Amino acid sequence: MTGNPPAARLTRAELLREIGLSPLWQLRPQLTVAVTRQVTPARPPAESISEEREDPARRPPSAPVAAPTASRPEAIARMGWDELRQSVAGCSACALCQGRKQAVLGVGDTSADWLFIGEGPGAEEDARGEPFVGPAGKLLDAMLAAIDLRRGEDVYIANAVKCRPPNNRTPEVAEISACAPYLKRQIALLQPRLIVLLGRAAAHAVLGNAGPLGALRGKPFEYPASECNERRIPVVVTYHPAYLLRTLPDKAKAWEDLCRARALMRMAKASTAAIPVAPPGPLAP
Ligand code: URA
Repeated sequence: MTGNPPAARLTRAELLREIGLSPLWQLRPQLTVAVTRQVTPARPPAESISEEREDPARRPPSAPVAAPTASRPEAIARMGWDELRQSVAGCSACALCQGRKQAVLGVGDTSADWLFIGEGPGAEEDARGEPFVGPAGKLLDAMLAAIDLRRGEDVYIANAVKCRPPNNRTPEVAEISACAPYLKRQIALLQPRLIVLLGRAAAHAVLGNAGPLGALRGKPFEYPASECNERRIPVVVTYHPAYLLRTLPDKAKAWEDLCRARALMRMAKASTAAIPVAPPGPLAP
């Protein structure tokens, strides 16, 4: 008999070549590891992962091969609070890490409706590991009290950057960008009903808008729903408490902003309350 041996005696690779499914794409071992780490929500059982390693022909040749390791923002986007805390504590993504005593992630109720975002830790915050504990923090507490809020009760406080800028200078754009994945993850984990941005650095971090604060306050902004489980989160921009300590006349404007924030929160709560839990069922016969 001439020609090829019977199909049953061909190796798998020969058989696939015969039917035109070659060349085979081989997964390199480290790529397989990355694939198993990346697939978190619908993770196949361990057996099927090892099966995939032994039988790469099951993967269509044209399927995109996963990146060897997740990028930093991708990795941060999958973190829970504990991992986030650890990652921020050891972060060296920008030069601010060199001057810090400790990184300051944030403080408060992780199921809070209200999220306040400031600029970055100052000397006292750097020493104590908590945001807004210096003079600006005292004013922030008073601002919270004015709208019946208290630090830690339905309020979470974070900063655009987690490490103290030298001499309390304003964080640079590159520093805000390096820290942005952490802030983004905090917002995604918190899913607040409303975000209040305190000052230009926070406005830059969240809205990408570095314009003068006077041009931003009073305007309606929304955090992109695609970034937060399709929740539409209103964003209010107001003055930073440290600025208000130096510029007392603008306190009245900050009060207007807080009143607006409180009204938006009431509307957000009312609109959720108005959604029926379940549609009315059919009448019983
Ligand atoms: N200013 C800020 O913006 N954040 C702090 O934590 C302290 C002062």
